[in-house]
Amino acid sequence: RQLIVPTDPTAPPVVFHYIPWFGSAAYYGMDPYKFMFECRDKYGDVFTFILLGRRMTVALGPKGNNLSLGGKVSHVSAEDAYTHLTTPVFGKGVVYDCPNDMLMQQKKFIKHGLTTEALQSYASLMPAECHGYFNNELKITKANPGPKTVDVLHVMAELIVLTASRTLQGKEVRENMSIRFAKLLEDLDKGFTPLNFMFPNLPLPSYRRRDLAQKEMSDFYMSIMAKRRTGEHDHEPDMIQALQGSVYRNGTPLSDRDIAHMMIALTMAGQHTSSATSSWFLLHLAHDQDIQKRLYEEQVEYFGNPDGTFRPMTYEDTKKLPLMDSCIRETLRLHAPIHSIYRKVLQPIVVPQSLAAPSEDKAYVIPKGNFIVAAPGVSQMDPKIWDDAPRWNPLRWLVDGGIAKTANEQYQAGEKVDYGFGAVSKGTESPYQPFGAGRHRCIGEQFAYLQLTLVVGEVVRNYKLTAAQREFPKTNYQTMIVLPLDPKITFEARV
Ligand code: HEM
Repeated sequence: RQLIVPTDPTAPPVVFHYIPWFGSAAYYGMDPYKFMFECRDKYGDVFTFILLGRRMTVALGPKGNNLSLGGKVSHVSAEDAYTHLTTPVFGKGVVYDCPNDMLMQQKKFIKHGLTTEALQSYASLMPAECHGYFNNELKITKANPGPKTVDVLHVMAELIVLTASRTLQGKEVRENMSIRFAKLLEDLDKGFTPLNFMFPNLPLPSYRRRDLAQKEMSDFYMSIMAKRRTGEHDHEPDMIQALQGSVYRNGTPLSDRDIAHMMIALTMAGQHTSSATSSWFLLHLAHDQDIQKRLYEEQVEYFGNPDGTFRPMTYEDTKKLPLMDSCIRETLRLHAPIHSIYRKVLQPIVVPQSLAAPSEDKAYVIPKGNFIVAAPGVSQMDPKIWDDAPRWNPLRWLVDGGIAKTANEQYQAGEKVDYGFGAVSKGTESPYQPFGAGRHRCIGEQFAYLQLTLVVGEVVRNYKLTAAQREFPKTNYQTMIVLPLDPKITFEARV
């Protein structure tokens, strides 16, 4: 392998490849982290690789994350990077199919469905969904304790969709879950793959099914809103209710169709990220009996009744569990569901010399038309930043038995930010960003933490988990979300 010297001396180095248009597609696609760590060793923190004709400039480390995620809206664009993938799935007029300023307002509207009161109400509804699933679908109960080996990704995908649909999505979606909704979701999923990202329109049946599913799903939400208006449907507070009546700053109301499309977008944003995270979490518990035992003991300490049963967790409770919180943070550190975050470069970006430079008197410039790629997972697994970086060790987040201050808290208090302890999230320049950073940062973090805490809490209260395979599962990078490959766990009811 050798370095191809780019014609422009200020352009970042280009990763060597044999086939011009194809570039590094195979290596990056198979294992993006291995590819990026290797390229970093060869070329430094900033380099360009070719991906099926696209020029992708990767900027690594906290400073690299900042360059992309903290980039000005005039310089970097998420909508130009994603709209061809997302608009056929979410629908028109929302998220990346509208100017960035409208997306920012849509994110504010969504926050109305994620208030403390809403989260409190969601917390009260989730455990019943888990118990129903344990008894009726998983069928491992005290009377029939197993052991039973399951595909944990399948189990968690079902638990996540059930708990999200009962709460955020609303009663009507939950009632239709077993009938049509799940099938539509599957067809949408199959239209939300790396293939769709690279080739937005191919004459394949999965593309056609994606389009049909989008329309049917959108119409379904429209019918829910129409029925609610006639008073035909009663419901608890949910996201549809929160979005109805929202008005853009220019006075334009959010239409029912916009709401339908935003609901689809939220489903797609939350479903795989959370089911992947909870699956990795349970896999680590199955492989680490000591942490599993401590996590069970935490549930007993905080919620155990003298008769061996547990009291339900409230939303406030879910925020006070040091070990549970640390396990989630640590799982997201090693298994950030999104390995690459893309932006299209609209204006040339000058790379700060402290990050990477071709010479002392020159800075790299990322040309307009390239994509800029942030990979927070690289800094989250960087042995230069984390002690024993590859090891899943939730205890690294605990200080004196409590959760360490976040880096933001330390930073605000004028204290030194110590990497390795505390949720290091100093704005857009941070080595820990599983939820992204900057204007496109995730707004589902609190909901995700609530859902993960409740769902995994219910699993740990009810089951002992053991690894069904000696080897920890490998990672599947062939999907948009980083998933475990063939992840089997043995469940046995606690009696
Ligand atoms: C954005 C991760 C759950 C809704 C993001 C981004 C990341 C992320 C990395 C930034 C994307 C970018 O900059 O291009 C995660 C993880 C989750 C999770 C790790 C769970 C473990 C959720 C949930 C929801 C949600 C449950 C909805 C309830 C969103 C939205 C955006 C977003 C609306 C904003 C997109 C934008 O502004 O471009 N998420 N997410 N996410 N996420 Fe999440």
